[in-house]
Amino acid sequence: MYHTLSGNTEKMAKAFAEGAKSVSGTEVVLKKAFDATLEDLLECDAIAFGSADYFSYIAGALKDFFDRTFYPSQGRAAGKHYAAFATGGRGGETALAVLDRLCGSFKLKKAVDSVSVAGAPTSQILVKCKDAGGRLAKAASK
Ligand SMILES: Cc1cc2nc3c(=O)[nH]c(=O)nc-3n(C[C@H](O)[C@H](O)[C@H](O)COP(=O)(O)O)c2cc1C
Repeated sequence: MYHTLSGNTEKMAKAFAEGAKSVSGTEVVLKKAFDATLEDLLECDAIAFGSADYFSYIAGALKDFFDRTFYPSQGRAAGKHYAAFATGGRGGETALAVLDRLCGSFKLKKAVDSVSVAGAPTSQILVKCKDAGGRLAKAASK
């Protein structure tokens, strides 16, 4: 699940999805945050969140998802594996810290190291995203 304005986070999301799909038996649902639902969260075995840093925070679309699903999902998402990736003009560390905090509120379990980049993802970063997607899918299948 991700949000993007100029496409940087979307490139990372697609690489994550590609990596996850490469793990046999994995079904991947790639969604923009405004389209993601409570059911998506409850039905998945693992979830990757991708955001740009906007105003030293995550994208409003992701915040909206967390806000919408927090009470209705309470207790039911706990323990699911998650991964996070971010981009920012100066790097996505601030957005990653917010994502980790919010995932902590949902009691999600971090499965792989986060991936972040300043600006557009390089091919090296996309390889990292693909790898992290694969590792997330493997963690979810255990
Ligand atoms: C409204 C807005 C606010 C932004 N605020 C920040 C910021 O606070 N810190 C930062 O490092 N980059 C900031 N950026 C830059 C974006 O994080 C960066 O361009 C990112 O790669 C965009 O990703 P996207 O193409 O997925 O939207 C901002 C961009 C926009 C459009």
